[in-house]
Amino acid sequence: MPKNEAAWLVNRNNPLEVRESPYSPPSENEIVIKNHAVAVNPVDWIIQAAPGMVCPWMKFPYVLGSDCSGEVVEVGTGVTRFKVGDRVVGHALGVDKKRNRVTEGAFQHYTHLLEHMSSPIPATLPFEYAAVLPLGVSTAACGMFQKDHLALQYPTRDALPTGETLLVWGGSTSVGSNAIQLAVAAGYEVVATASPANFAYVHSLGATHVLDYHSPHVVQNLIKVFSGKSCAGALAIGATSAGSCMDVVHAVEGKKFVSMATFPVDFTRMAEGASIPVEMVRQSPKLLSFVASLLLKSRLRGIRTKAIYGTTLVDNEVSTIVYRDFLPNALADGRYVAAPRPEIVGNSLECLEAALKRQRKGVSARKLVVTLESRKSDLG
Ligand SMILES: NC(=O)c1ccc[n+]([C@@H]2O[C@H](COP(=O)([O-])OP(=O)(O)OC[C@H]3O[C@@H](n4cnc5c(N)ncnc54)[C@H](OP(=O)(O)O)[C@@H]3O)[C@@H](O)[C@H]2O)c1
Repeated sequence: MPKNEAAWLVNRNNPLEVRESPYSPPSENEIVIKNHAVAVNPVDWIIQAAPGMVCPWMKFPYVLGSDCSGEVVEVGTGVTRFKVGDRVVGHALGVDKKRNRVTEGAFQHYTHLLEHMSSPIPATLPFEYAAVLPLGVSTAACGMFQKDHLALQYPTRDALPTGETLLVWGGSTSVGSNAIQLAVAAGYEVVATASPANFAYVHSLGATHVLDYHSPHVVQNLIKVFSGKSCAGALAIGATSAGSCMDVVHAVEGKKFVSMATFPVDFTRMAEGASIPVEMVRQSPKLLSFVASLLLKSRLRGIRTKAIYGTTLVDNEVSTIVYRDFLPNALADGRYVAAPRPEIVGNSLECLEAALKRQRKGVSARKLVVTLESRKSDLG
């Protein structure tokens, strides 16, 4: 059996520790991949800062990480779509409550992936690029396509225009970059927000209008842009996005639904060592006013809201629609790009701790990636 190593989280706010990790064969519907690249997400350092709040089921020591790409080394007996040697990208589900197994964390050399949460990638797509995709794709897909969220039409090769327009607040985020592309592939026009420095980038993904979310007039400006359009609802990504999206969908024609990706708690001080109960008390006025405002707006205006949990697609058809039916072909023929652009921050498991710290400081239209093969990056 191959020798495996992982970057372990051994306790709250401890730095990741690289040491041996078990290697086990895949279950019936799983593949095992040797990771060439893994990406970090806000949720990784958030779990490190406040595991009991975010994933209370998690028992230490644990292996974090949702995003990985690499080569298949073993396939389960029920797997038909993949064979040993295939280049793939997949959403590692170790932190999900129902999966909850260290073998399914991305931050190790060998990761178990569910077949239906994995896609083959073309030879032209470097592993470093592919690794930016999974959690962004899954989170956007849960909010946009699940029947209990926006229930949008699915993405296909030749989607007919729906005549509807989706609001993506936070278009330059990793989730937003994928939401825009998925929405366009599903036949929707997209109006997005971002910082002005990222307007060209967000347009390049397919948004027809991009507005600055820092502007005090952004809600009014969005309402003007939506004039004469039929709104398909909103995907709210980023702090304060939910309330603003509710204001927009209330004022325009169309679906009164806001799907929310961002949890309204600031975990930064907890990551710096602050006590979780003390921090929660400190943040409670802001949290209470957030909840009260959401309740009031939804009750008075009849707007529905729902928080996204980016792994729920594993149990419904959205996973196969995206990872089996759409993404492989769309990546192969260039209709879908790996976005946001990867920034390589190291080439070993030991670099993941620094990557988490960098992620916590914030990124802009970039995803931090660690490569795990001792080879020169394909990025040049
Ligand atoms: N619920 C879930 O399952 C789930 C899963 C994944 C992520 N998330 C959450 O979704 C959010 C985005 O995650 P990510 O990985 O996509 O983030 P990310 O790429 O690390 O986010 C960086 C981007 O955030 C943008 N941004 C910062 N504040 C913003 C605001 N107030 N409004 C709009 N955009 C803002 C910045 O845009 P500019 O540089 O253009 O200003 C920057 O490009 C986070 O809150 C994360 O915790 C939730």
